[in-house]
Amino acid sequence: MRVLLAGGAGYVGAHTAVALLDAGHEVVLLDDLSNTSSIAAERIAQITGKPAPLVVGDASDDSVVAGVFDEHGPIDAIVHLAAFKAVGESMQQPLEYYSNNLDTTFALVRVGVARGIRSFVFSSTGTVYADPADLPFTEDSTTSVDLSNPYSKSKRMNEVVLEDVARVHPDLNVTVLRYFNPVGAHESGLIGEDPSGIPNNLMPFVQRVAVGTLERIGIFGADYDTPDGTGLRDYIHVVDLALGHVAALEKAQPGFTVYNLGTGRPVSVLELIAAFERAVGRELPQTILGRRPGDVDATYCDPSKAARELDWVGTRTIDDATRDAWNWQSRNPQGFATA
Ligand code: WQD
Repeated sequence: MRVLLAGGAGYVGAHTAVALLDAGHEVVLLDDLSNTSSIAAERIAQITGKPAPLVVGDASDDSVVAGVFDEHGPIDAIVHLAAFKAVGESMQQPLEYYSNNLDTTFALVRVGVARGIRSFVFSSTGTVYADPADLPFTEDSTTSVDLSNPYSKSKRMNEVVLEDVARVHPDLNVTVLRYFNPVGAHESGLIGEDPSGIPNNLMPFVQRVAVGTLERIGIFGADYDTPDGTGLRDYIHVVDLALGHVAALEKAQPGFTVYNLGTGRPVSVLELIAAFERAVGRELPQTILGRRPGDVDATYCDPSKAARELDWVGTRTIDDATRDAWNWQSRNPQGFATA
């Protein structure tokens, strides 16, 4: 299968490209490099020994997407990972988030359907779930288009659009993958999470403190209704997440299908930090701060549907993720800029 990975040079995209190439498929990467480096594409080829052609361009531009098909076709499937994804930033820039996160989908679907793709896989998020009483979240748990931030709203809106597109294109398999918290890195240490600026997310922030480019971990609240008072999340190793995309493409169900990609094993902030300290072999400077607006006590999923229908399970532990994240960050203290 030849797969167009929109956002393919990004964190999840690059790991998905490696997993697809290792499984014997071909990939074409389309990325505007707004939140990554072209070096990621070189590293994908280095890891797999196979080509990972990169087209630098805007996935919301029909002519750019059509150009990828003209130059690298025929293309059997599209995996859409090209989105802005910082919750806090989305609060400040709603229009940018709605236009980018929806216009990319519109262009990719328009051109992909016109060119006869068989599958469309969409990168969604566990933050579309709206009622903590439903925990652990299944795919049938309450979702909403009226969520706490434009990022999550844009993802739920995409799901609504794609369900209607699937209804009028019964020959197109549309699969929505709701990620929980992606963490970790490929075992080679050649690719990993490399957000621009100060990381919003916990794991890349801890990585930067461990490597010395940030001073201290700030723990956003220790008074949550959880066993140790800090936030609980479902951290999924990015390699397991990538393998979930391969499974979704290889076992695509006709029509519109949704899967949670998580471990179902909630981990707290303090537990993640302790696991990272085990990986580096020393304590990391940390301090308790106030809660971050918009954070919830706990979010984690029931991943059994993906296990049943995709034969996929997230097996890697938080210790695997912190070990691999540290291997990446210690080899690349400045991320891809280290190269
Ligand atoms: C995790 C925990 C924080 C930073 C994010 C995205 C969401 C989705 C999943 C893609 C929370 C705490 C964090 C820090 C901290 N991504 N924390 N200090 O908020 O669960 O969701 O990943 O779909 O869109 O927002 O992840 O890593 O920001 O926070 O204490 O410096 O770590 O309070 O409990 P989150 P996160």
